[in-house]
Amino acid sequence: MRTTNWAKALLLTLLMPLAAHADEGMWLPLFVKRLNQADMQKKGLKLTAEEIYDVNNASLKDAVVQLGGFCTGEFVSSQGLMLTNHHCGYDALQTHSTPQNNILQNGFFATTRAEEKTNPGLFVDLLVRMEDVTGKVLEGITPTTPEAERMAMVQKRQKEMADAAKENGQYVAYVRDMFGGNEFYLFVYQRFGDVRLVGAPPEAVGKFGGDTDNWMWPRHTGDFSMFRVYADKNNKPTAGPQADNVPYVPKKHLPVSLQGVSEGDFAMVFGFPGRTQRFLPAAGLQLTLDQSNPARIKLRDTRLKLWKEDMDQDPALRLKYASKYANIANYWKYFIGQNEGMKRLKTVDAKKAEEASLDQWIRADQARVQKYGEALPIINQAYAGMREYNLSSQYVNEGAFGTEIVTLASRMMPLYATLKATPTDKAAIQKAVEGLKEPVAEYFKDYSAPTDKKVFTALMTLYGKDVPAAQLPDVFQTVQKQYGNSWAKYADYVFANSFLTSEAKVNAFLANPTLAKLEADPGFKTFNSVYTNYVQTILPKMQGLQAGLIRANRLYVAALREKNTQKVYSPDANSTIRLSYGTVRPYKGRDAVRYDYKTSAQGILEKEDPTNDEFVVPKKELELLKMKDYGRFADKDGNLPVAFITDNDITGGNSGSPVINGRGELIGIAFDGNWEAMTGDLAYDPELKRCINVDIRYVLWCIEKLGGARSIVDEMTIVNNGPNPGVGPAATASATELGDVEKMKVKTDDGQKTKIKKKKGKDSVSAGM
Ligand code: ARG
Repeated sequence: MRTTNWAKALLLTLLMPLAAHADEGMWLPLFVKRLNQADMQKKGLKLTAEEIYDVNNASLKDAVVQLGGFCTGEFVSSQGLMLTNHHCGYDALQTHSTPQNNILQNGFFATTRAEEKTNPGLFVDLLVRMEDVTGKVLEGITPTTPEAERMAMVQKRQKEMADAAKENGQYVAYVRDMFGGNEFYLFVYQRFGDVRLVGAPPEAVGKFGGDTDNWMWPRHTGDFSMFRVYADKNNKPTAGPQADNVPYVPKKHLPVSLQGVSEGDFAMVFGFPGRTQRFLPAAGLQLTLDQSNPARIKLRDTRLKLWKEDMDQDPALRLKYASKYANIANYWKYFIGQNEGMKRLKTVDAKKAEEASLDQWIRADQARVQKYGEALPIINQAYAGMREYNLSSQYVNEGAFGTEIVTLASRMMPLYATLKATPTDKAAIQKAVEGLKEPVAEYFKDYSAPTDKKVFTALMTLYGKDVPAAQLPDVFQTVQKQYGNSWAKYADYVFANSFLTSEAKVNAFLANPTLAKLEADPGFKTFNSVYTNYVQTILPKMQGLQAGLIRANRLYVAALREKNTQKVYSPDANSTIRLSYGTVRPYKGRDAVRYDYKTSAQGILEKEDPTNDEFVVPKKELELLKMKDYGRFADKDGNLPVAFITDNDITGGNSGSPVINGRGELIGIAFDGNWEAMTGDLAYDPELKRCINVDIRYVLWCIEKLGGARSIVDEMTIVNNGPNPGVGPAATASATELGDVEKMKVKTDDGQKTKIKKKKGKDSVSAGM
């Protein structure tokens, strides 16, 4: 480095800790200005931090919602129209499908408001504001505050702050801890309970490639569905669907760009990533690798095979189990990929090395030993202890609770508790019964007792074989003594005699519930045996070990951050709103294998296989693709783009997240991760980790050309017509010039009564930073 640059270099080094530089990171929008803005602008962002997150003025955050607590959605019109993934709308699509009118299979687009379908229970949360409340939560707490006292104080303050922020039920609010309990943030949301299904392509498009292609690149899936958020006449949320509700008018909706992506383009993803465990210590990784994941894989494998056998026999059953199957299969494959990746990438070894160096750093200084010395020993001890009981936990969760009858029995718990505690209190009992009516109806809508019986037999048999005998619940003794240790024979008895196998019988019980009847039911008895054993013997052991871990983890994370001051850490995902940014980028999958960054309709035709239900292409799509009828959605080479990848850091929960270009325009919808980086939730690898997105032009093509629903596309704000303008009203909107934030805002907020503020010269970044 030349001496003249010495001062600049020093300055840069000093400033380093203040800004993030890698593509790792699911950032809290609150800190975008301080931590990320400079880096983002260098990568191609033309917006200011305020245009991304601002509490007082419309910003990007006002266009992004959490859907149902498990996915992300984005507003694309001033009338509450929202895009998300097909797999996020899957359950709603299945619920509205019958073998006679199978909208899941055939696809559907509502072109009038009357055709939109309500979904009681489904909601979206829209962020109002967030706040760093670390200081308030930890006030007066010192390193010597006893752990139990600390926990009680923290929990109390978290609750008080959240309760105050709810403003008498007007908002949903909670305080979440970050960095292992070292920091705390308050999130305040509006919750909209009227979210109506607007449309989706046929399943063969929305889930094209099925479980074979799931978690993999290259991808040719039209993984999108559409909903509309409704509000009352004053644009305020309602708890559930209401006949006189009207489309919600968002403060901000995303303009849609037809310009497409090129390698190196800036991309950001806004959404609600569910959970990462990047601070999981080596011992925790090892436990996942050799105990938790193999158990989950084995039990899910068994369940899925049995479900599939019956689904293949009967179309009605196939529809009933479609959503459950997709859900279980999704993470079944995830666990397989995660374990494969951990072995290939030697994730545990890398973590061990990091811990060894942390240990050295701690030992080098007496004050550090004082502060952090206990962390690693406690962690290692706790995981060693957990090893003994962890399998039991897994077999309760994925084994016993992998059967539906046990799950339904568990839902009877509030009623059971009431019958036990206050057997003569009719009102209390009735209340518990009322609480069961909807879940019971919902449950039986998608239930097959003969299928469940097979699963019950198989999973409980595995439970008995794989879990240490001393940890098994009583029911295993009953089966051994009275049924010749045959779960098949015991299942015959349970399924012939339990009222939990039919809706009519459950309702008959609910009409006149007694403690004696419930306690005598063999389905409930089985559950109760598993549950009691778990709560009385397994859980206390696990919780005892975990209690020590809470403190140790907090110290471990604090030590790591103190040691690596040059690295800006982002907190692990925890279902709170985050922003990640990166670029459109190909990757090298393995030796001699390079992946392009985009796919096209050509690949759909290459994968097409009418004999394999995962790769069937609907007749109409086949015809349109063969004619190359791409309309204005073709790219500059005349291909129809389908999907592309970026190196954005995402995880489950980000499903449906908008992929936004440097000008704040929607270019795609994130829907998956890639096989080579299945360890991404545990460790981030910038060379391998990619975010898989459906290209917004394919989405629009599916709506307009395949679905014939041009009016839906016309409702959106198309701000850039791309290389193939074509004709028609949507195509005549004038294009936004590169970097012209003013124009974009005018167009986006058109008719939304949002004031347009003049921003001066914010789109250039000073060089050298
Ligand atoms: N892997 C995707 C995710 O977790 C879900 C894909 C759903 N598709 C499927 N074939 N199960 O976001």
